[in-house]
Amino acid sequence: MSTSKSAVLTFGNGQSVEFPVLSGSMGPDVVDIRQLYAKTGMFTYDPGFMSTASCRSAITYIDGDKGVLLYRGYPIEQLAQQCDFLEVAYLILNGELPTREQKANFVHMVTRHTMVHDQLARFFNGFRRDAHPMAVMVGVVGALSAFYHDSLDINDPRHREVAAFRLIAKMPTIVAMAYKYSVGLPFMYPRNELSYTANFMRMMFGVPTEDYVVNDVLVRALDRILILHADHEQNASTSTVRLAGSSGANPFACIASGIACLWGPAHGGANEAALNMLEELQREGGVARIGEFIKKVKDKNSTVKLMGFGHRVYKNYDPRAKLMRETTHEVLNELGLGDDPLFKLALALERIALEDEYFVSRKLYPNVDFYSGIVQRALGFPTAMFTCIFALARTVGWIAQWNEMISDSEQKIGRPRQLFTGPTRRDVVPIAER
Ligand code: SDX
Repeated sequence: MSTSKSAVLTFGNGQSVEFPVLSGSMGPDVVDIRQLYAKTGMFTYDPGFMSTASCRSAITYIDGDKGVLLYRGYPIEQLAQQCDFLEVAYLILNGELPTREQKANFVHMVTRHTMVHDQLARFFNGFRRDAHPMAVMVGVVGALSAFYHDSLDINDPRHREVAAFRLIAKMPTIVAMAYKYSVGLPFMYPRNELSYTANFMRMMFGVPTEDYVVNDVLVRALDRILILHADHEQNASTSTVRLAGSSGANPFACIASGIACLWGPAHGGANEAALNMLEELQREGGVARIGEFIKKVKDKNSTVKLMGFGHRVYKNYDPRAKLMRETTHEVLNELGLGDDPLFKLALALERIALEDEYFVSRKLYPNVDFYSGIVQRALGFPTAMFTCIFALARTVGWIAQWNEMISDSEQKIGRPRQLFTGPTRRDVVPIAER
């Protein structure tokens, strides 16, 4: 990182203050304003962090204008086509693609951490059967810190490694348990002879009364969906995990905080919201009602948004959305659902929106969530499970970013300031006189 450049801030009173400008390996330079308050007594003001870099990172790079997404320098398109999820997980966690031997060892370790402490199963009984599975996930993942005391010391690299394996390995088991509990079916134990994603699909859809037949095309499709969701720079849930981790909280608590944040419909909950939007539009008349729906979306007085569209960073097509649309096509054809009305509706909605000035002028394109609901529904997942699967995949990115934060010598506890607009100092008046 070079610091040869600088930026000067000049105030109305003629005072000028100079700040270093830092350059990374790619992307925008940053103005290093860490001394701003000390030198000027002023804060910056940036709600939603539209212009703020919160950290250095070497994990994921996004060029929103060009629709580029790289994990450790590798284009998402190549990773999605040529690698499997655990290979990409190894890359995101360690910075390099694994050799054959490294991958075999990594898969062996993950596979043998997939079971959860048997007492954890009792947690589920504390939830209503109709609880949203993300509520269950937040509770159960946070509770892992009550079981695995030998991987809580965040300053011990071995503890961090064990916690990482446990979280990556147990997330599919916990997600499947949350689903089975919601439908009153028995939990399925993982099987070590299956791949990570085939294991997850068997725990989700298998039953003890018969062998589960793995469909390799569907497993490959889900594995690719996990790759597309594995990491995404400093998004809201990743920033939540980093902020929680900056206080020294244990890894399970940090990941539980990421799950809680991801649940929001503006973030990871958008895939569930996008499918609900398509199903409602279908019920109201489908393609024939798109014009009326778009009008509602554009109406300033309505809160209706085109879910699965728009992105803080992508002002071009989200590369993941393109790959998700291809995967949806593959899965629907494999299942003989090529004429799926919801997919046709989504394609029509996308086409009409991308020709509409409202979306074009605001650079609103489909994001990763626009098609992911359709393909996950076709794979057999209930809508409420979509964000759990997003969390399952994003656990890898959250852990990698959390580890990077802990190892960064410049990181301190995150503690933003504010622009205070409340009442100035005043004295309490006794209640008898109020
Ligand atoms: C994810 O950050 C990440 O990387 C997240 C993520 C990841 O992998 O971690 O990529 C995953 O969260 C994808 C985004 C999923 N969310 C949705 O699909 C929900 C719908 N999208 C919007 O809520 C919105 O686009 C956001 C939240 C995604 C981005 O919001 P911004 O960057 O704060 O932009 P904005 O809300 O200020 O929008 C700018 C304008 C506004 O109109 P004007 O005030 O200029 O008139 O665009 C409009 C917005 O009203 N707008 C939309 C819209 N998204 C933005 N109008 C209709 N439909 C939409 N979807």
